[in-house]
Amino acid sequence: MSNAKLNAAKSVIPLIPKKGAIGLGSGSTVAIFAKELGRQIAAGEVDVRVVPSSYQAYQLAVEYKIPLTNLDIDPILLLTVDGADEVDKDLNLTKGGGGALFQEKVVASASERLIIIVDESKLVDYLATRYDIPIEVLPFSLGVVRRKIIDMGITPTVREAQRKMGPVVTDNGNFILDLKFSEPIMDPAKVAVDLKMIPGVVETGLFVGMTDEVHIGLEDGSRILK
Ligand code: A5P
Repeated sequence: MSNAKLNAAKSVIPLIPKKGAIGLGSGSTVAIFAKELGRQIAAGEVDVRVVPSSYQAYQLAVEYKIPLTNLDIDPILLLTVDGADEVDKDLNLTKGGGGALFQEKVVASASERLIIIVDESKLVDYLATRYDIPIEVLPFSLGVVRRKIIDMGITPTVREAQRKMGPVVTDNGNFILDLKFSEPIMDPAKVAVDLKMIPGVVETGLFVGMTDEVHIGLEDGSRILK
């Protein structure tokens, strides 16, 4: 386990509310946070339940005996702790590297605060610098979505599964297209809207204007961007 990820996860521990419902994000950094959350719950230090943002997050909650809830019971969450693949200087995010982005965005939108935990390698000046932008696409619409994206001057690649033949199938039964931009994204809000307007695009991995704090883990500590 990297020290930087551990330090990012540790940095967010003081923000865990004593009681209530929170969102549990996805990824390896969140997994470290989930373990500590489970320990605090078992010790009776906090009385927290979570809405998982992916099947992986659900599995983490089960593994660490974190009580589960959902957005019907708890449509307002006190905060969500999640990871990211890129963080720009305005705290906009690229997400979906692990195939989860749609439910992550829904859970983030239900949250009063979105707290992101990353190591320093995720920081970029502009999104699409070091990571292609994932979008979740309805399988029925794949051909037409791909054509429209190419018309926008962007190169889409269907994400292939590693130990299954064919495409990655998301938690929602959809495909992922990874979008290679010819240059970094200067106006992520516009790009996010343009992509989302294509019928068949279920959601994009661009999280614009949603983040409240980014906790950056370093090898020997952490720092916070607000
Ligand atoms: C999942 O699809 C992503 O949005 C994750 O939140 C992201 O990949 C962060 O993962 P790590 O903490 O493993 O880098």
